[in-house]
Amino acid sequence: MQVLSTLSHLLCLWAPFATAAYTLKDDYGTGFTFFDQFSFFTGADPTNGFVKYVDRGTAQNTGLISAEGTYMGVDHTNVAGDGRPSVRITSNKSYNQGLFILDLAHMPGSVCGTWPAFWLLGPDWPNNGEIDVIEGVNDQSVNQFALHTSDSCTINNSGFSGQLLTSNCYVKAAGQANNAGCGIKDTSAQSYGNGFNSAGGGVYATEWTDQKIDIWFFPRSGIPGDISSGNPNPSGWGTPVARFQGACNINSHFKGLQIIFDTTFCGDWAGNVWGQSSCASKGTCRDFVANNPAEFKESYWSVNSLKVYQGGTSNAPKANATAAATATTHEKKPGTSPRPSFLRYRRK
Ligand SMILES: *[C@@H]1O[C@H](CO)[C@@H](O)[C@H](O)[C@H]1NC(C)=O
Ligand SMILES: *[C@@H]1O[C@H](CO)[C@@H](O)[C@H](O)[C@H]1NC(C)=O
Ligand SMILES: *[C@@H]1O[C@H](CO)[C@@H](O)[C@H](O)[C@H]1NC(C)=O
Repeated sequence: MQVLSTLSHLLCLWAPFATAAYTLKDDYGTGFTFFDQFSFFTGADPTNGFVKYVDRGTAQNTGLISAEGTYMGVDHTNVAGDGRPSVRITSNKSYNQGLFILDLAHMPGSVCGTWPAFWLLGPDWPNNGEIDVIEGVNDQSVNQFALHTSDSCTINNSGFSGQLLTSNCYVKAAGQANNAGCGIKDTSAQSYGNGFNSAGGGVYATEWTDQKIDIWFFPRSGIPGDISSGNPNPSGWGTPVARFQGACNINSHFKGLQIIFDTTFCGDWAGNVWGQSSCASKGTCRDFVANNPAEFKESYWSVNSLKVYQGGTSNAPKANATAAATATTHEKKPGTSPRPSFLRYRRK
């Protein structure tokens, strides 16, 4: 009894630090309810992809989106000489901090020519930041995480299980490929593309506080119970696969981010590294994407849920976290890096 009472006393003392709970701010729901909360981008791809982003009506009429499975795919039946039809959607809402939990049944597979991404982007790039949660190109087998910022934001190589690629988040950092930003690579083949899909998908959880940005990946078989029950508590999830923390004032570099899903083709990343990839034997990236529609049947997202939580304090008191319902315009800027760098989004 004495032991128990001491223990509960200790737990009491620790509670304020460990258990300030996250509360649900936005549940994007499923089917058309999900799509209702996004805007369909129809401009030319800012990353120079060989793609034609279509509006919602077109996407619905041509089967590029479907309520069933909250499906977002690409045209996989027609030869597409002017760029393959696809969708790029941006959340109407923008966010300052929070816990973003995406449960996917499927993501675009590891297919030559493709470049899918799930990411968060602020206005006036790169001054308000960019967080790339899921991204890869061609037949890549593991996921890559990245931040893109203005000057004076670097990260430590500690506190995460992934592999550090680059530590300076500034898009024009000396000694890094143009627009590389700071990048971390997953080491699990279940984290991306075909490996992710054959494991039944999984959950990506991104915790953005005033101290750091942590990302966890959980394959379908390893999703924490508190996520499934809607009471997520990152302090119990163990080491994140990616931790972005270091000499970086998170509050000043990340503001008003919107959630984006897209699938593009070739362009500034998939196209630029095509020649050094195993895809090179298939001809040029554009010809391959234009002429082989059936190859892109697996190039789809299927969302089980997307929920945004706020108000939590997993390890430190934090400033106000508010979701401003301001739909800001933004562009993912193309870059010019010829190198197989992770990212290359550049201001015009
Ligand atoms: C989101 O913005 C689009 C316009 O881009 C609009 O059609 C849609 O109704 C908006 N959704 C909500 C929930 O306001
Ligand atoms: C990480 O970065 C912070 C802030 O720059 C620094 O104080 C700390 O010593 C670093 N930690 C490690 C393990 O490098
Ligand atoms: C949060 O915002 C409110 C109202 O704007 C303000 O009064 C309060 O001081 C803020 N709290 C923190 C921790 O910044």
